[in-house]
Amino acid sequence: MVDVQPRERGRLAEPDLLVTKPYIDGKWVDGSAPPVRVDDPYTLEVFSEVAAVGPGEARAAIDAAAQALPGWAAKTARERGGVLRRWYDLLIKHRNDIATLITRENGKTLREAQGEVDYAAGYVEFYAEEATRSIGETIPSPVPGRRLFVEREPVGVCAVITPWNFPLAMLARKVAPALAAGCTVVARPSDLTPVTALAFAKLGEEAGVPPGVLNVVIGKSRPIGEVLTSSPIVRKLSFTGSTEVGALLAAACAPTIKRLSLELGGNAPLIIFDDADIDVAIETAMVAKFRNGGQSCVAANRIYVQRGILDRFLSAFGDKVRNMKAGDGFDSTCDIGPLIDEDAVEKVEQHREDAIARGAYCVAGGPSPGGRLSIPTLIAGAPPDALFTREETFGPLAGVIAFDTFEEGIRMANDTPYGLASYICSSDPATIARASRALEFGMVGINTGVISTPVAPFGGVKMSGYGREGSSHGLLEYQNLKYVCHAGL
Ligand code: SIN
Repeated sequence: MVDVQPRERGRLAEPDLLVTKPYIDGKWVDGSAPPVRVDDPYTLEVFSEVAAVGPGEARAAIDAAAQALPGWAAKTARERGGVLRRWYDLLIKHRNDIATLITRENGKTLREAQGEVDYAAGYVEFYAEEATRSIGETIPSPVPGRRLFVEREPVGVCAVITPWNFPLAMLARKVAPALAAGCTVVARPSDLTPVTALAFAKLGEEAGVPPGVLNVVIGKSRPIGEVLTSSPIVRKLSFTGSTEVGALLAAACAPTIKRLSLELGGNAPLIIFDDADIDVAIETAMVAKFRNGGQSCVAANRIYVQRGILDRFLSAFGDKVRNMKAGDGFDSTCDIGPLIDEDAVEKVEQHREDAIARGAYCVAGGPSPGGRLSIPTLIAGAPPDALFTREETFGPLAGVIAFDTFEEGIRMANDTPYGLASYICSSDPATIARASRALEFGMVGINTGVISTPVAPFGGVKMSGYGREGSSHGLLEYQNLKYVCHAGL
């Protein structure tokens, strides 16, 4: 890791990567809406002002994507893959600068930001290769003299709406498969973290993404969202964000019957069984809870620990949490950076106070020291219906609840309308097999808190949404199947 000292905090090796204009039809445009002010969540200073677009420019972006579609779709898969491959190389080349921009506007530690660049670049690399593996099917005909086959075609113009918590990775894992499939894209990144998205687009331009194939519109979510969801030209919307907003977007897309991929809220349980290896359980809990400061849809929101291992777990996990440091993301001694805004800090406080008011006690950590900092905290002894078990905390609060039997642990874990990620720790193959089958979630991590990878299908069930990102399944999200029946042969 590059150890960035405070005196060079946020300095870029390539200052041109800091772009402050939306990108439409291959041009960096001024935008007619009031600019977006981007805060540095640690210093609370305005880090950048980015030009913003209104509905007219959002429509122009859709038109540009529609114009660019036939040319891009007609390229060979290898040509499209080649552009993505060059983009991957550029992301890796500019890894430290992109990570610096992420830390600057999101607040996460530089180490995590560098990890995010690698993670995001992994999607671009994977889909550079997957583009050429878009294999169709032939079907044995039930009638003589016919040939039945299935081709995959690009869905068309796609809108992607991405969040602030992984401002690069969430964009890359939508844009890369879309472009690999031959689609064109209008992206609307969070206006809390637009600069990372614009740097991504700049490297895409340098890699050879033709004008109009990727457009990035910055600005207020509602007017832009209305244009993207209502346009009949846009054939698909992919969204990562809250379940509430996902439901609104799905409703807004219904009249034009768009395809949808929705990666929505999670409320991940981590179940630690008596027979778990204690070191593995601690490591799993640390990563599953504190990755990205807890600001992740797959963060372990509820930790259920079987009573036989409870004391040992609380003591060892408490020591780890107590040693964690929250502070400036550019300070290499910090484990987590500030949270994204004051509301995020307030939510963590509410969840901690609610649990304490219902009889929980604090094993490590405590209240926020102010600003946007939230201290890594471990609480135990909360009742099974404490607020943190029902709502995503999205911050560094680990809440532990004890359970006695396998059935009780699984019942509490499944007692949520959400179904994104879940985790279990156990050394017993039978327990692992029974638990992973019984969990009503799209993803199960066994003895690990790190499950996200470009090569596996990421996504949820129930109120956590539908559709998958990553892997070959992620490419299919941007393709229509065309069945062709050739008779008279
Ligand atoms: C998310 O928090 O939405 C994504 C996390 C991940 O990709 O691991």
